[in-house]
Order: sequence, then C-alpha cells, then structure tokens
Amino acid sequence: MKITKVKGFSGEVTVPGDKSISHRSIMLGSLAKGTTEVYGFLQGADCLSSIDCFRKMGVEIENTGEVVTIKGRGLRGLTKPVVTLDVGNSGTTTRLMSGILAAQNFTSRVNGDASIQKRPMKRIMTPLSMMGADIKSELDNGCAPLIITGKQLNGIHYDSPVASAQVKSAILFAGLYAEGETSVTEPAVSRNHTELMFEEFGVDIRCEGKTAIVKPADELFAKKIVVPGDISSATYFIVAGLITPDSCITIKNVGINPTRDGIIKVCQAMGADITVEKISGDIGEPTADITVRTSQLKGTVVGGDIIPTLIDEIPAIAILACFADGETIIKDAEELKVKESNRIDVMVDNLKAMGADIEATEDGMIIRGGKALHGAIIDSKLDHRIAMSFAVAGMNAEGETEIVGGECVEISYPEFYRDIYRLIKM
Ligand code: S3P
Repeated sequence: MKITKVKGFSGEVTVPGDKSISHRSIMLGSLAKGTTEVYGFLQGADCLSSIDCFRKMGVEIENTGEVVTIKGRGLRGLTKPVVTLDVGNSGTTTRLMSGILAAQNFTSRVNGDASIQKRPMKRIMTPLSMMGADIKSELDNGCAPLIITGKQLNGIHYDSPVASAQVKSAILFAGLYAEGETSVTEPAVSRNHTELMFEEFGVDIRCEGKTAIVKPADELFAKKIVVPGDISSATYFIVAGLITPDSCITIKNVGINPTRDGIIKVCQAMGADITVEKISGDIGEPTADITVRTSQLKGTVVGGDIIPTLIDEIPAIAILACFADGETIIKDAEELKVKESNRIDVMVDNLKAMGADIEATEDGMIIRGGKALHGAIIDSKLDHRIAMSFAVAGMNAEGETEIVGGECVEISYPEFYRDIYRLIKM
C-alpha cells in the first residue's frame, strides 16, 4: 500500500459495525432460543472467524452481507466440531469462545494464526480452571492451540489482574453454565458490551462499580441487534480530520458507549475541534455523529482508568501526538505489548522511521510533537490498527509511505482505503 500527502479531507463517512458487538452477537445468537437477526454486522475477517467457529458447532448462520441470521441452538445445543476451531487473527473469538467451550459436553481444539499463537491465554486459563474447566495449552506455553474439554463449572469470584473485556467476558460466558453466581472485579472498567448484551438476551446480570455479577441461565432469548458503527474504526477519520490542513469530516452513527469513548476525551483534552451529536441508543448502546475539523492540538497525558476505554485507539493517538505542540505521555498501557503486535515497539520503531521524536517506556510512550514527518517503509506486522494509523500518518508526511502488509485492514475494516480515499480533497 503506497500513500502520499493529501491536501485535505471533507465529507461524511459511515464506518462498519462495532467489532466487539458483532462477535458477541454471533455467540449470544448461537446460544439463544429462537432466531437472532443482526444488522450492521462487521464483515471483517475477525468476525467472520466467529461465524465460522459457531457454524462448525452446528449453528445455522446465514450471512447475506446485509443481515446475519442465526438460528440459535439454545444454551446446550452446540455440537462437537469435527475439526479445529480456527479463530484466525481474533483474540476476542479465542477468549470469549473458550469460556463457552469450557462448559460443553465435548472436547474441542482452538487455534489461530501466528499472531494468535503468541498471545497470552493463561489470563483466561487461570480463572476458567478455578471454575473447574479442563483447558490446556497444547504446547504448554500458555498460548493457543488450546484443548478444551467441557466440564460442570462452579461459580467463582475473580479479581482480575488486568482490565480486559476479553478476560471478563470469558468468565461471564462460563458463568452462564456455572453452579451459583459468578463475579469478576477489574482494576478499571473495560468495555461492557457483554454485560449490556447479556441483559438484552434475558440473562440475570448486574454491575456494581468495577464488578460484574452473573447468575447461571436456563435459556437465552433471541434478539434483533442493530450494531452501531465502531468507534475504533471511526478513530482513523477523527485523527485524519484533526491533523490534516483544511479538513472537516463527519463520521455517522458511531457507538459512543462510555466504556469506549476515551478517544473523544483525549481529543478534547488536546484542544480538538470535535462535536458529538447524540442520535440514539439501541441495545443499551448510545450512538452519535462525530464531526472533526483541522485543529491546533496540544500534548496531553493519557493514563489511568481511561486506558481500557481507548486501548485500541492508542496507535492512532500516537499519530495525533506527533502533530500536537509539546509532549504527550501515554502510560499504564503495558497491555499494548500483547495485542495483535507489540504496539509500543511497532509504533515507536515506525514513527521513528518517519522522523518523529518518540521513545518507548515500560508502559507506553512519550512523544514530542511538532517534528514534520517524512515518508518511510512501514512494517505493519500484519496488525490492522498499525496499518490504518500509518495510512493516516502517510497522508500527512512529505514523500511516499509504503505500508508493508497493508491489506491486513481486512481484519476490522475491509473497505478502509476506499472510504478514506473518497474523502480526499482534489
Ligand atoms: C475486545 C477487548 C479488548 C480489545 C479488543 C476487543 C473485546 O481486548 O483490545 O480489540 O471485544 O472484548 P482486551 O479486553 O484483552 O483488552
């Protein structure tokens, strides 16, 4: 993918459906009684992996591109897959589905691509084992492939060492099948889509501060789901609109759940011209149209409890910081090291190659903004969020930027390049 500098952006864009909600709609729809229809489902490779895995467990799922129709098999209706469940690049599929598999009456094998095979799975193996699960790492390295033999589970209370919606959700899904109540306390609240969607599907779930508590379920009830636009995908347009001269972009119908809206708060703290016009709220998920205009930004500090609410946006925030006056410090974000790539190292190395003043720290990075960027060869490490961040950076750099592995945007946003090119001013 080759990128050159642009003059400006203008217009409207509708980003694809939220990735987290799309995954959960497949899982809950599969376990529910009745037919679930999902509108606005993200047709990215990650969510298609979730569809593929549940089809392999006997669930009939029709995907027309417009609507995904899931014929639920009930909580105990999944059937033993005859092949390995292939999660592709998707950590969400791996971890959430493991919570479900831990309670089935069969053994399954879960595996994915090279990136998945490096990502830590002990974080779910530990709590699920405490619930009575039989879950093993085949190579005994704490990573996939995983071998999971379903067991009768018991409810636990788990104090999670990480603020991770994937860990929390794996435990909550297992909790649907457990004897007694299951609760998870996090150090900071991570995205709460599982909790909101459980409620929609009729599960007895409540939240008290940083704790989510679920009661075992007899059955779940199918729902119509309208997936809002993904704020993580909207972020590339927010950054593009703010840092590119002579720009104004409106991003339509974006999910602004307060456990996901950290990017908006960071933009505001940096002095951005950003307006958020609330439009509605379905399935407990508020949505808005977001408009950004070219802004003179200033550096900020991003750390503490806000981190889980913008964890996937940090690569894009690093780009924003390069165009701000003064220093931006990103801290408390060591989780970045165990994402699709080590996003601290990959951002720092690639931004240095473009001439940025940036250094890695143990738990984040420090960026001194204001140094003009120049084109470079960017190794995306096949990480979709790295590729999209550098596409935006490259459109604001002198000379040519080449994104190696740029096609990996298909993971979460297959039409990304088309959509951003459409907004370029001629
Ligand atoms: C996700 C949770 C986050 C996020 C990922 C999607 C989810 O991971 O990075 O892209 O859908 O639950 P962690 O919960 O592990 O931080």
